[in-house]
Amino acid sequence: MGSEIIELDRQGLENVIVGETSICCVDQGQLLYRGYPIAELAEKCVFGEVAYLLLYGELPNAAQLKWFRDQLSEFHGLRKEVVDTLRMIPPGVPMMSVLRTCISMASHFDPVSGQTVEALRRRATWLLAVASDIVAARYRLLNGKDPIMPKPGAAHAHQMLYMFHGTEPDDLSTRILDLTLVLYGEHDFNASTFTNRVVASTASDMTSCTVSAIGALKGPLHGGANEEAIALILRFRNAQEADAWVRDALAKKEKVMGFGHRVYKHGDHRAVILEREMRKLAELKGRQDLVAIYDAIKNPMVTKEHPIYPNVDYPCGMVYYLLGLPPDLYTPLFACSRIAGWCAHYIEQIQHNRIYRPLSRYTGPTLRHVTPIDQRA
Ligand SMILES: CC(C)(COP(=O)(O)OP(=O)(O)OC[C@H]1O[C@@H](n2cnc3c(N)ncnc32)[C@H](O)[C@@H]1OP(=O)(O)O)[C@@H](O)C(=O)NCCC(=O)NCCS
Repeated sequence: MGSEIIELDRQGLENVIVGETSICCVDQGQLLYRGYPIAELAEKCVFGEVAYLLLYGELPNAAQLKWFRDQLSEFHGLRKEVVDTLRMIPPGVPMMSVLRTCISMASHFDPVSGQTVEALRRRATWLLAVASDIVAARYRLLNGKDPIMPKPGAAHAHQMLYMFHGTEPDDLSTRILDLTLVLYGEHDFNASTFTNRVVASTASDMTSCTVSAIGALKGPLHGGANEEAIALILRFRNAQEADAWVRDALAKKEKVMGFGHRVYKHGDHRAVILEREMRKLAELKGRQDLVAIYDAIKNPMVTKEHPIYPNVDYPCGMVYYLLGLPPDLYTPLFACSRIAGWCAHYIEQIQHNRIYRPLSRYTGPTLRHVTPIDQRA
């Protein structure tokens, strides 16, 4: 070992195991957070329990959940410097870029000190609170309203909706937003988590890892797909238009956003759970027209010779749209949940660390020498 070179011809590290984790298991047959199936967590737990599970390794009892919520409450509320930064950023800047910048800014006033596991869990809790505060405050500022103070002790999804709208959210919206947060919480070595772990492996700090992961999540091939998926659905006036477009896109080998997955080749467990809820929500909101378009895009994808199934972002884009949230918030909401997973991975990585430093195969020019500048053509 050590001097042996292993050359992989698998682009994108497909089917390559690059590390160990006890946080999440993703394979064809199941998705487990710390051993619990996602369907059970989705049915029986709220996001606060799942975030606690990811960070502490076990589900909380009622007293532990209250304690965790109290910690979140303690950390909610943005400093004036961060709100001033939010006001300075031009209105057209994507919310994911705003989140990236403002988490970085807020971290200069990090209320948690130390690198013990306990301190890191507290910093993770602070990051969860501050991320949702940033997104909510920016949303309000863009709508000509001042940021509002959080509601002490509220559950995370309730708190987010309250801080967006300044009114008590209804139970259905809270429950469905909470479900999306549970489903988005963790997904092993996906692109943003791997980014986070690579940065962690340099012994960098948790906030830098989170900011790097936000950059990775922003891309439309990763978290940005939920915004792209709803943009696609809204492009069509009816199911016929959508069906014609998707068949043409497949013929031209174009990507259909919200479909496909590197690991799941027989469907994404999270998408199945969320699609069921999306259908109920659409019925309640009287938006069967959108469901018809949703299905018209989905059907040719899943019935073709080599099916490509929806991933979680496809129904999620619809769910957030039906909840009346603007598309620029969708990927940031994903980030506000995934911070729990990223931080759990940060803690795991630094406890068993060796810096990530792969090799590359050089394909550039062979050896050549520098011509002085006055002799170059
Ligand atoms: C997620 C994603 C990046 C995975 O990429 P990947 O693992 O490299 O996928 P592959 O290239 O192995 O896909 C296998 C085949 O399915 C096709 N395919 C994959 N996703 C597709 C999609 N969304 N639309 C159309 N075709 C797709 C590929 O073109 C490829 O076809 P080929 O064998 O004829 O070349 C990719 O599916 C994608 O870009 N999806 C859209 C963006 C998205 O929804 N991202 C969120 C992921 S949770």
